[in-house]
Amino acid sequence: MKISVVGTGYVGLVTGTCLAETGNQVTCVDIDERKVNMLQGGRITIYEPGLEKLFERNLKEERLQFTTSLADGIRDAEIVFLALPTPPGEDGSADLKYILGVAEDIGKLLQDYKVIIDKSTVPVGTAEKVHAAIARNYKGEFDVVSNPEFLREGVAVDDFMKPDRIVIGTTSERAQKLLTDLYAPYVRQGNPILFMDERSAELTKYAANSFLATKISFMNEVAQLCERLGADVDMVRKGIGSDERIGKRFLFPGIGYGGSCFPKDVKALVHSANEVDYDFQILSAVMEVNERQKQHLVQKIKDYYSGSIAGKHFALWGLAFKPNTDDIREAPALEIIDALVENGAVITAYDPEAMKNVKTLIGDKIRFAESQYECLEGADALIIATEWNEFRTPDFDKITSALKEMVVFDGRNLFDVAAMQEKGFYYESIGRPTVSKYVSQ
Ligand code: UDX
Repeated sequence: MKISVVGTGYVGLVTGTCLAETGNQVTCVDIDERKVNMLQGGRITIYEPGLEKLFERNLKEERLQFTTSLADGIRDAEIVFLALPTPPGEDGSADLKYILGVAEDIGKLLQDYKVIIDKSTVPVGTAEKVHAAIARNYKGEFDVVSNPEFLREGVAVDDFMKPDRIVIGTTSERAQKLLTDLYAPYVRQGNPILFMDERSAELTKYAANSFLATKISFMNEVAQLCERLGADVDMVRKGIGSDERIGKRFLFPGIGYGGSCFPKDVKALVHSANEVDYDFQILSAVMEVNERQKQHLVQKIKDYYSGSIAGKHFALWGLAFKPNTDDIREAPALEIIDALVENGAVITAYDPEAMKNVKTLIGDKIRFAESQYECLEGADALIIATEWNEFRTPDFDKITSALKEMVVFDGRNLFDVAAMQEKGFYYESIGRPTVSKYVSQ
């Protein structure tokens, strides 16, 4: 099939590349000339495991092309994906100016039937607005479909190639048929394509992300209780997760959820609910708990130093909002940095992929190290903010000899509490007993 993808951000680039991989002819459109030149020249613009190989192969086979011209990009396409940003406005609502702007332009360019697909996370009612924006200039037949994307950063290729489900919001049989054919290679394993109306599809995406965020905030509160009641959240997590109705996944407490989706989408759903006079109370609490949780590790650190961390030097492992990405949007590590630096601490950080982005954002506010061990040299304590695999089984002898004191504040529960006790560390994690063997000299 001939496909166009408008917007070459995270979702657009993964969508375009993965659609080309199954033999479709894909043209990606972006107004950013520099980006298009880079992509055309074979240089990928995001870090995502497994994507580069697919990108290079499909570019070489000329199944994947890039242009800045919307007219050229959509001319031959039967299906046009809109993968455009929906940044949050001041009040938390999603700003639709990019999507509706492009829809208006598409209306001026259309000459035959096409299916226009909203791939971005957009508020309920957006498909109707996109339809109206196109119809202002084009009087022929076309369909607008809501087809939200559920991929996770770090495993985006796998999520796209083998999705748990595909949600298609349209009542048009013509569009349903086209999309069933398009997605057939991706649901061979038997996962469902769920057809529904546009509004339900739009809400499904927000409800999914908000529910997952709720699971995380719930567990962060359970972890808080564990700390106060002397229970171990790892045990509680396994105890409740074995119940299939609850499930094992997304029950990991930590330093709060971050990233480009959860914070924005929860806020936007609360805002949408308010607009129809509904107070979505659970989600307001989810956001509040998340904000509090981001400061929880900082509080533990302050408590350890009896309230004053001025002049303390911390090694920080992890900056990305989660492993296997260089994405630092809403990364809890950034808030931890802010709070520590404000209180007079000095930080040396290491992250396998995200240091460049943090340097661009905050410059010389902190120091950066070349390796996870260099990062520790002369620091008073180690703080862990992202659960990269390489941090999971480190060389503890190196940690011990590089740190001034054997003190670890772990926001991701990477290490076994008993093992840390045996090694002689002072070890604080989230919702688990504190190991207080190390005695400051
Ligand atoms: C999320 C959704 O999972 C995905 O379906 C949607 O399309 C986009 O938003 P993503 O933001 O890439 O994906 O990351 P995800 O793996 O879901 O993690 C989000 C945040 O929650 C991270 O900050 C992560 O550290 C945190 N998290 C996740 C927890 O704190 N505990 C958990 O148990 C799981």
